[in-house]
Amino acid sequence: MSEVLRVENLSISFGGLAAVDDLSFSVSDQEIFGLIGPNGAGKTTVFNCITQFYKPDKGSVWFTVDPERLAARRQKADNAEGQINLVGRPVHSIINYGLVRTFQNVEIIGELSLVDNVLIGGHVDFRASMLSQMLRLPRARAEEKAYREKAMEALDFLGIGHLADQLAGGQPYGVRKRLEMARTLMAEPKLIILDEPAAGLNESETDGLAETIREIRRRYECAILLVEHDMGLVMSVCDRICAISFGKFLAMGTPAEIQQDPLVHEAYLGERDDV
Ligand SMILES: Nc1ncnc2c1ncn2[C@@H]1O[C@H](COP(=O)(O)OP(=O)(O)O)[C@@H](O)[C@H]1O
Ligand SMILES: [Mg+2]
Repeated sequence: MSEVLRVENLSISFGGLAAVDDLSFSVSDQEIFGLIGPNGAGKTTVFNCITQFYKPDKGSVWFTVDPERLAARRQKADNAEGQINLVGRPVHSIINYGLVRTFQNVEIIGELSLVDNVLIGGHVDFRASMLSQMLRLPRARAEEKAYREKAMEALDFLGIGHLADQLAGGQPYGVRKRLEMARTLMAEPKLIILDEPAAGLNESETDGLAETIREIRRRYECAILLVEHDMGLVMSVCDRICAISFGKFLAMGTPAEIQQDPLVHEAYLGERDDV
């Protein structure tokens, strides 16, 4: 299977503390890949370095981009494998390559409806088309309709289509988390990064989440990179898992392999006993 993402020798420190230390791993096309580790291990920081929210001190983040996507932007791959190195690219440009994320703390605009949240968060191209809409170009109207249909499809897919016109702000946590996921689907993602999607959800919502993640992969044919504390979810949904501790690589393998890994048990000692 070909790879969609390869993180190579990634390092970043904050005031002398190595939050991520020479970490390497890769995610295959359409794989559901888990990143686990105790609190403070550096998981969110890894995500921030991949999406260029943080600039890593060292290392590369290779991302496989569809050739048509590169051609549309008059760009060339950085290596013979058709990949680009995301390091150093502007944070807002990353979505254009098909890499999207959700945040550990849900980030949506409460004053907008659900469908508008999906629309504005979704795609840089949509904002460009808003300009032509203001000029009332017929093509722009057709485009807006298509975007709305796509947004509705994403909301329906996540089971919150019936709330599309309600304000996002007052919605229960579970709905807001689903909304954030719906937004990622607008970008025609090749890789979706989910930071603790089960945090704050109750047991039955978490059970539904595993199936939703699998369905997203099936329907959108994308890979998913997941950080999650709920070990039940991680073990049931992931094809492979990378465990880290203090920013360093600890172990990599299938859920069964990770569950039996002595280093993983040691790292979690004192924090949890259900690994
Ligand atoms: N912007 C930042 N400034 C300073 N320290 C940070 C920053 N971001 C993360 N850290 C530190 O990096 C370490 C890893 O944090 P984080 O990636 O959030 O861990 P995790 O997501 O695994 O719980 C922690 O010690 C955290 O305090
Ligand atoms: Mg985190």
